[in-house]
Amino acid sequence: MSQQGVTQTVSDVISSLEAVGYLPDRALATSVHLAICLGRPLLLEGDPGVGKTELAKALALMTGRHLIRLQCYDGLEQRDALYEWNHAAQLIHLRAAQALRTPEEIEREVYQPHYLIKRPLLQALHTPVPGAVLLIDEVDRADEPFEAFLLEYLGEYQVTIPELGTIKAETPPLTILTSNRTRDLNDAVKRRCLYHWVQYPDRDRELAIVRQQVPNISEKLSEQITEFIQRLRHPPFQDAFSRAPGIAESVEWAKALVALNTLSLDPEVIEGTAGVLFKQRDDVAALTPLLTDLLATG
Ligand SMILES: Nc1ncnc2c1ncn2[C@@H]1O[C@H](COP(=O)(O)OP(=O)(O)O)[C@@H](O)[C@H]1O
Ligand SMILES: [Mg+2]
Repeated sequence: MSQQGVTQTVSDVISSLEAVGYLPDRALATSVHLAICLGRPLLLEGDPGVGKTELAKALALMTGRHLIRLQCYDGLEQRDALYEWNHAAQLIHLRAAQALRTPEEIEREVYQPHYLIKRPLLQALHTPVPGAVLLIDEVDRADEPFEAFLLEYLGEYQVTIPELGTIKAETPPLTILTSNRTRDLNDAVKRRCLYHWVQYPDRDRELAIVRQQVPNISEKLSEQITEFIQRLRHPPFQDAFSRAPGIAESVEWAKALVALNTLSLDPEVIEGTAGVLFKQRDDVAALTPLLTDLLATG
């Protein structure tokens, strides 16, 4: 499927993403549509588990582009993200050539693309048509110098390698950056991107996601799960927990409850599976006294 063929309108983006198993809301689909039309990177911020990383995977499926992923972490450096010289191969070449050529000749020879180890950002520039989906995941985990280094890349889809000059994308990658917002990103990075805050889904969309990912779940149980999780994320319950469960947790919980042959939610089964919803001891403890209210009907 060509990129142009599937993304003429926002509704096309919605149906194309749904066709590959990703259920977006209209606002997110609009941002995706604009990122494709304008050729701009899209920065997605939002709580963990709301579907940021998954969107990039879905976009790769939708457009037939190859997914190239750069997972960010504290201490990530250019040589892990962009390229490094293959010193071992350069050394072998140098030994072999030493008797025959001048040092200047050898130096020119070893700084050729052949001796370059391409990391994700450079791979994404060299991906032939239809190009890559480049996922720069959890950019808030990398440090600020790394963000500064991304500026040239995000602005022009090009990089400069001192020994080789400037390398520009043949087909610009469809670029998605994600952040869990553990810190504020550099303004200059934000300016080069379209921005979208990814919300938790509403009840209907979450129900559809759970049913799609856990097809053998009963109607009743899937409704109860979604209702329960939606309540956890809203007042007055939300303040009792350090972090609300994301869509990932809803889906995992649905799978767990189906595996336990659960017919309907009750305090006992919820307590037994609370570790799927919450990963903090205090949050698990806070759940128990709230169960009666959380399960109340009406
Ligand atoms: N809109 C969606 N449609 C379908 N599944 C989704 C959607 N959003 C999230 N998911 C599910 O939730 C899981 C977690 O999403 P993920 O992209 O890892 O979250 P994030 O990157 O925001 O932390 C995914 O593996 C997927 O199963
Ligand atoms: Mg993620």
